[in-house]
Amino acid sequence: MVLDTAVGQSLDKNIDQYRVFGNPIHQSKSPNIHKAFAHATNQNINYQTQLVAVDEFEHSVKAFFTAGGKGLNITVPFKQRAFAMAQVVSPAAQKAEAANTLYLNEQGQLVADNTDGMGLVRDICHNLNGQLSAKRILVLGAGGAVRGVLQPILAQLPKQVVIANRTFSKAKSLAVSFTHLGAIEALPMDQLKGPFDWIINGTSASLAGDLPPLLDGLLTSNSRCYDMMYSAQTTVFNTWALRQGAACADDGLGMLVEQAAQSFGLWRGILPPTAVVLSALRSELKA
Ligand code: ATR
Repeated sequence: MVLDTAVGQSLDKNIDQYRVFGNPIHQSKSPNIHKAFAHATNQNINYQTQLVAVDEFEHSVKAFFTAGGKGLNITVPFKQRAFAMAQVVSPAAQKAEAANTLYLNEQGQLVADNTDGMGLVRDICHNLNGQLSAKRILVLGAGGAVRGVLQPILAQLPKQVVIANRTFSKAKSLAVSFTHLGAIEALPMDQLKGPFDWIINGTSASLAGDLPPLLDGLLTSNSRCYDMMYSAQTTVFNTWALRQGAACADDGLGMLVEQAAQSFGLWRGILPPTAVVLSALRSELKA
Protein backbone atom coordinates (compact mmCIF):
# COMPACT_ATOMS: atom_id res chain seq x y z
CA MET A 1 0.00 0.00 0.00
CA VAL A 2 1.27 3.47 -0.90
CA LEU A 3 0.02 6.56 0.82
CA ASP A 4 -1.28 9.16 -1.61
CA THR A 5 -0.57 12.20 0.51
CA ALA A 6 -2.30 14.70 -1.78
CA VAL A 7 -5.62 13.03 -1.35
CA GLY A 8 -5.19 11.34 2.02
CA GLN A 9 -5.84 7.95 0.46
CA SER A 10 -3.87 4.76 -0.01
CA LEU A 11 -3.77 2.96 -3.34
CA ASP A 12 -4.05 -0.81 -3.27
CA LYS A 13 -1.31 -2.00 -5.64
CA ASN A 14 -2.86 -5.45 -6.04
CA ILE A 15 -5.45 -4.07 -8.41
CA ASP A 16 -5.09 -1.51 -11.21
CA GLN A 17 -6.35 1.84 -9.97
CA TYR A 18 -8.35 4.39 -11.96
CA ARG A 19 -10.06 7.60 -10.85
CA VAL A 20 -12.13 10.42 -12.24
CA PHE A 21 -10.98 13.79 -10.92
CA GLY A 22 -13.42 16.67 -10.83
CA ASN A 23 -15.03 19.33 -8.69
CA PRO A 24 -17.88 18.67 -8.12
CA ILE A 25 -17.76 14.92 -8.71
CA HIS A 26 -20.58 13.31 -6.72
CA GLN A 27 -22.81 13.26 -9.82
CA SER A 28 -20.35 11.19 -11.90
CA LYS A 29 -21.63 8.01 -13.52
CA SER A 30 -18.12 6.98 -14.58
CA PRO A 31 -17.44 4.45 -11.77
CA ASN A 32 -20.55 2.45 -12.68
CA ILE A 33 -19.77 2.63 -16.38
CA HIS A 34 -16.18 1.45 -15.97
CA LYS A 35 -17.21 -1.26 -13.50
CA ALA A 36 -19.59 -2.61 -16.13
CA PHE A 37 -16.91 -2.39 -18.85
CA ALA A 38 -14.44 -4.25 -16.61
CA HIS A 39 -16.99 -6.96 -15.92
CA ALA A 40 -17.83 -7.34 -19.62
CA THR A 41 -14.17 -7.64 -20.62
CA ASN A 42 -12.92 -9.67 -17.64
CA GLN A 43 -10.62 -6.90 -16.49
CA ASN A 44 -9.78 -6.48 -12.83
CA ILE A 45 -9.78 -2.75 -12.07
CA ASN A 46 -10.78 -0.37 -9.32
CA TYR A 47 -12.34 2.93 -10.48
CA GLN A 48 -13.55 5.63 -8.12
CA THR A 49 -14.51 9.29 -8.09
CA GLN A 50 -12.20 11.75 -6.41
CA LEU A 51 -13.12 15.28 -5.42
CA VAL A 52 -10.04 17.42 -6.07
CA ALA A 53 -9.60 20.89 -4.57
CA VAL A 54 -9.23 23.51 -7.28
CA ASP A 55 -5.73 24.52 -6.18
CA GLU A 56 -4.54 20.92 -5.80
CA PHE A 57 -5.20 19.49 -9.24
CA GLU A 58 -1.65 19.16 -10.63
CA HIS A 59 -0.34 17.96 -7.28
CA SER A 60 -3.10 15.34 -7.03
CA VAL A 61 -2.42 14.03 -10.55
CA LYS A 62 1.29 13.64 -9.81
CA ALA A 63 0.61 11.99 -6.46
CA PHE A 64 -1.84 9.53 -8.04
CA PHE A 65 0.62 8.33 -10.68
CA THR A 66 3.56 8.34 -8.26
CA ALA A 67 1.49 6.07 -6.02
CA GLY A 68 1.07 3.60 -8.89
CA GLY A 69 -2.28 4.76 -10.31
CA LYS A 70 -2.91 3.57 -13.88
CA GLY A 71 -5.26 6.09 -15.39
CA LEU A 72 -7.40 9.16 -14.83
CA ASN A 73 -10.49 10.61 -16.34
CA ILE A 74 -10.66 14.36 -15.93
CA THR A 75 -13.85 16.36 -15.81
CA VAL A 76 -15.01 19.90 -15.06
CA PRO A 77 -13.19 22.18 -14.30
CA PHE A 78 -9.81 20.55 -14.92
CA LYS A 79 -9.71 19.43 -18.57
CA GLN A 80 -7.58 22.37 -19.79
CA ARG A 81 -5.17 22.00 -16.89
CA ALA A 82 -4.84 18.26 -17.56
CA PHE A 83 -3.88 19.07 -21.15
CA ALA A 84 -1.44 21.76 -20.04
CA MET A 85 0.48 19.56 -17.62
CA ALA A 86 0.93 16.55 -19.94
CA GLN A 87 4.30 15.74 -21.51
CA VAL A 88 2.75 13.98 -24.51
CA VAL A 89 -0.55 15.01 -26.09
CA SER A 90 -2.64 13.14 -28.64
CA PRO A 91 -3.81 14.94 -31.80
CA ALA A 92 -7.37 14.94 -30.36
CA ALA A 93 -6.25 16.59 -27.12
CA GLN A 94 -4.12 19.04 -29.09
CA LYS A 95 -7.08 20.23 -31.15
CA ALA A 96 -9.37 20.30 -28.12
CA GLU A 97 -6.73 22.04 -25.98
CA ALA A 98 -8.20 19.90 -23.23
CA ALA A 99 -7.90 16.33 -21.98
CA ASN A 100 -10.38 13.95 -20.38
CA THR A 101 -7.98 10.99 -20.18
CA LEU A 102 -4.51 10.72 -18.62
CA TYR A 103 -2.10 7.81 -18.33
CA LEU A 104 1.63 7.10 -18.32
CA ASN A 105 3.33 5.74 -21.43
CA GLU A 106 6.12 3.14 -21.37
CA GLN A 107 8.70 5.90 -20.84
CA GLY A 108 6.79 7.08 -17.78
CA GLN A 109 5.63 10.28 -19.50
CA LEU A 110 2.21 11.72 -18.72
CA VAL A 111 0.01 11.33 -21.81
CA ALA A 112 -3.13 13.42 -22.37
CA ASP A 113 -5.88 12.32 -24.70
CA ASN A 114 -9.41 13.51 -25.38
CA THR A 115 -12.10 10.96 -26.18
CA ASP A 116 -15.13 13.29 -25.98
CA GLY A 117 -15.36 13.97 -29.71
CA MET A 118 -14.87 10.35 -30.65
CA GLY A 119 -17.58 9.52 -28.10
CA LEU A 120 -20.01 11.90 -29.77
CA VAL A 121 -19.28 10.64 -33.28
CA ARG A 122 -19.54 6.98 -32.25
CA ASP A 123 -22.86 7.62 -30.53
CA ILE A 124 -24.27 9.40 -33.58
CA CYS A 125 -22.85 7.09 -36.25
CA HIS A 126 -23.10 3.70 -34.51
CA ASN A 127 -25.68 3.80 -31.71
CA LEU A 128 -28.07 6.19 -33.46
CA ASN A 129 -27.43 5.06 -37.00
CA GLY A 130 -26.75 8.61 -38.08
CA GLN A 131 -24.53 9.98 -40.80
CA LEU A 132 -22.48 13.15 -40.66
CA SER A 133 -20.58 12.80 -43.93
CA ALA A 134 -21.88 15.07 -46.69
CA LYS A 135 -24.33 16.66 -44.23
CA ARG A 136 -24.91 20.29 -43.31
CA ILE A 137 -24.34 20.56 -39.57
CA LEU A 138 -25.09 23.42 -37.19
CA VAL A 139 -23.10 23.32 -33.96
CA LEU A 140 -24.33 25.56 -31.15
CA GLY A 141 -21.83 26.91 -28.64
CA ALA A 142 -18.16 27.83 -28.72
CA GLY A 143 -16.85 26.73 -25.33
CA GLY A 144 -14.66 23.83 -24.28
CA ALA A 145 -17.31 21.20 -25.04
CA VAL A 146 -17.58 22.29 -28.68
CA ARG A 147 -13.82 22.71 -29.14
CA GLY A 148 -13.49 19.09 -28.01
CA VAL A 149 -15.75 17.65 -30.69
CA LEU A 150 -15.04 19.66 -33.84
CA GLN A 151 -12.09 17.67 -35.12
CA PRO A 152 -13.84 14.25 -35.05
CA ILE A 153 -16.95 15.82 -36.62
CA LEU A 154 -14.87 17.35 -39.43
CA ALA A 155 -13.10 14.01 -39.89
CA GLN A 156 -16.47 12.60 -40.99
CA LEU A 157 -16.27 14.95 -44.00
CA PRO A 158 -19.52 16.85 -43.57
CA LYS A 159 -20.64 19.14 -46.40
CA GLN A 160 -20.43 22.11 -44.04
CA VAL A 161 -20.18 22.85 -40.33
CA VAL A 162 -21.63 26.15 -39.13
CA ILE A 163 -20.83 27.30 -35.59
CA ALA A 164 -23.19 29.71 -33.88
CA ASN A 165 -22.81 31.07 -30.41
CA ARG A 166 -24.45 33.67 -28.18
CA THR A 167 -21.10 35.50 -28.20
CA PHE A 168 -20.29 35.57 -31.92
CA SER A 169 -16.59 36.46 -31.53
CA LYS A 170 -15.93 33.11 -29.81
CA ALA A 171 -17.61 31.18 -32.64
CA LYS A 172 -15.57 33.14 -35.16
CA SER A 173 -12.22 32.40 -33.54
CA LEU A 174 -13.11 28.73 -33.09
CA ALA A 175 -14.04 28.42 -36.79
CA VAL A 176 -10.77 30.09 -37.78
CA SER A 177 -8.71 27.66 -35.72
CA PHE A 178 -10.39 24.62 -37.36
CA THR A 179 -10.65 25.90 -40.90
CA HIS A 180 -7.67 23.85 -42.13
CA LEU A 181 -9.56 20.67 -41.17
CA GLY A 182 -12.61 21.14 -43.35
CA ALA A 183 -15.56 23.27 -44.42
CA ILE A 184 -16.36 25.28 -41.31
CA GLU A 185 -17.64 28.80 -40.75
CA ALA A 186 -19.16 30.88 -37.97
CA LEU A 187 -22.41 32.82 -38.30
CA PRO A 188 -24.31 35.04 -35.87
CA MET A 189 -27.40 33.34 -34.45
CA ASP A 190 -29.77 35.73 -36.25
CA GLN A 191 -28.13 35.13 -39.65
CA LEU A 192 -28.46 31.33 -39.73
CA LYS A 193 -30.14 29.97 -42.83
CA GLY A 194 -31.64 26.49 -42.73
CA PRO A 195 -32.20 23.80 -43.41
CA PHE A 196 -29.55 21.88 -41.54
CA ASP A 197 -29.36 18.08 -41.57
CA TRP A 198 -28.09 18.11 -38.01
CA ILE A 199 -28.18 20.60 -35.15
CA ILE A 200 -25.84 19.65 -32.32
CA ASN A 201 -26.20 21.61 -29.10
CA GLY A 202 -22.87 22.01 -27.33
CA THR A 203 -23.86 24.97 -25.16
CA SER A 204 -24.31 24.61 -21.44
CA ALA A 205 -27.69 26.40 -21.73
CA SER A 206 -29.65 23.18 -21.11
CA LEU A 207 -28.02 22.91 -17.69
CA ALA A 208 -29.85 26.06 -16.67
CA GLY A 209 -33.02 25.08 -18.54
CA ASP A 210 -32.23 27.71 -21.17
CA LEU A 211 -32.30 27.66 -24.94
CA PRO A 212 -29.95 29.51 -27.31
CA PRO A 213 -31.90 32.17 -29.27
CA LEU A 214 -32.75 30.09 -32.35
CA LEU A 215 -34.81 31.23 -35.31
CA ASP A 216 -37.57 29.10 -36.82
CA GLY A 217 -36.96 27.32 -40.12
CA LEU A 218 -33.56 25.81 -39.34
CA LEU A 219 -34.68 22.23 -39.82
CA THR A 220 -36.95 19.98 -41.84
CA SER A 221 -38.74 16.75 -40.97
CA ASN A 222 -35.59 14.89 -42.06
CA SER A 223 -33.30 16.87 -39.75
CA ARG A 224 -31.86 15.33 -36.62
CA CYS A 225 -30.88 17.04 -33.41
CA TYR A 226 -28.46 16.08 -30.66
CA ASP A 227 -28.00 17.69 -27.25
CA MET A 228 -24.59 16.93 -25.77
CA MET A 229 -26.22 17.31 -22.33
CA TYR A 230 -28.48 14.58 -20.98
CA SER A 231 -31.21 14.46 -18.39
CA ALA A 232 -34.05 12.25 -17.20
CA GLN A 233 -36.57 14.46 -19.00
CA THR A 234 -36.24 15.63 -22.59
CA THR A 235 -33.82 18.58 -22.54
CA VAL A 236 -35.05 22.09 -23.33
CA PHE A 237 -33.13 22.03 -26.62
CA ASN A 238 -34.54 18.66 -27.65
CA THR A 239 -38.06 19.80 -26.75
CA TRP A 240 -37.53 22.80 -29.06
CA ALA A 241 -36.18 20.49 -31.79
CA LEU A 242 -39.18 18.17 -31.68
CA ARG A 243 -41.59 21.12 -31.67
CA GLN A 244 -39.81 22.46 -34.75
CA GLY A 245 -40.51 19.13 -36.46
CA ALA A 246 -37.12 17.37 -36.27
CA ALA A 247 -37.14 13.68 -37.19
CA CYS A 248 -35.59 12.89 -33.81
CA ALA A 249 -33.71 14.50 -30.96
CA ASP A 250 -31.24 12.54 -28.84
CA ASP A 251 -29.34 13.47 -25.73
CA GLY A 252 -25.71 12.97 -24.73
CA LEU A 253 -25.99 9.90 -22.52
CA GLY A 254 -24.61 7.75 -25.33
CA MET A 255 -21.73 10.19 -25.79
CA LEU A 256 -20.91 9.79 -22.10
CA VAL A 257 -20.77 6.00 -22.42
CA GLU A 258 -18.83 6.06 -25.69
CA GLN A 259 -16.17 8.50 -24.46
CA ALA A 260 -15.73 6.26 -21.42
CA ALA A 261 -15.33 3.22 -23.69
CA GLN A 262 -12.61 5.01 -25.66
CA SER A 263 -10.76 5.88 -22.43
CA PHE A 264 -11.08 2.29 -21.25
CA GLY A 265 -9.64 1.17 -24.59
CA LEU A 266 -6.64 3.49 -24.22
CA TRP A 267 -5.90 2.17 -20.74
CA ARG A 268 -6.67 -1.53 -21.16
CA GLY A 269 -6.07 -2.14 -24.87
CA ILE A 270 -9.56 -3.55 -25.31
CA LEU A 271 -12.73 -1.74 -26.40
CA PRO A 272 -15.67 -2.73 -24.22
CA PRO A 273 -19.19 -3.30 -25.57
CA THR A 274 -21.38 -0.28 -24.81
CA ALA A 275 -25.01 -1.12 -25.69
CA VAL A 276 -25.91 -2.93 -22.48
CA VAL A 277 -24.30 -0.28 -20.29
CA LEU A 278 -26.11 2.49 -22.15
CA SER A 279 -29.53 0.89 -21.83
CA ALA A 280 -28.96 0.18 -18.11
CA LEU A 281 -27.98 3.82 -17.55
CA ARG A 282 -31.02 5.02 -19.46
CA SER A 283 -33.35 2.92 -17.31
CA GLU A 284 -31.60 4.14 -14.17
CA LEU A 285 -31.95 7.75 -15.27
CA LYS A 286 -35.68 7.35 -15.92
CA ALA A 287 -36.39 5.43 -12.70
P1 ATR B 1 -18.25 24.07 -21.71
O1 ATR B 1 -16.93 23.60 -21.22
O2 ATR B 1 -19.44 23.29 -21.22
O3 ATR B 1 -18.28 24.26 -23.19
P2 ATR B 1 -18.01 26.91 -21.49
O4 ATR B 1 -16.63 26.85 -22.06
O5 ATR B 1 -18.29 27.81 -20.33
O6 ATR B 1 -18.47 25.49 -21.00
O7 ATR B 1 -19.00 27.26 -22.69
C1 ATR B 1 -20.38 27.30 -22.51
C2 ATR B 1 -21.04 27.56 -23.86
O8 ATR B 1 -22.46 27.56 -23.70
C3 ATR B 1 -20.68 28.89 -24.47
O9 ATR B 1 -20.72 28.75 -25.88
C4 ATR B 1 -21.81 29.80 -23.98
O10 ATR B 1 -22.06 30.93 -24.77
P3 ATR B 1 -21.17 32.27 -24.56
O11 ATR B 1 -19.85 32.01 -25.24
O12 ATR B 1 -21.96 33.34 -25.20
O13 ATR B 1 -21.03 32.46 -23.07
C5 ATR B 1 -22.97 28.85 -24.10
N1 ATR B 1 -24.10 29.21 -23.22
C6 ATR B 1 -24.17 29.07 -21.89
N2 ATR B 1 -25.36 29.46 -21.41
C7 ATR B 1 -26.08 29.87 -22.49
C8 ATR B 1 -27.39 30.38 -22.68
N3 ATR B 1 -28.22 30.57 -21.64
N4 ATR B 1 -27.79 30.67 -23.93
C9 ATR B 1 -26.96 30.49 -24.98
N5 ATR B 1 -25.72 30.02 -24.88
C10 ATR B 1 -25.27 29.70 -23.65
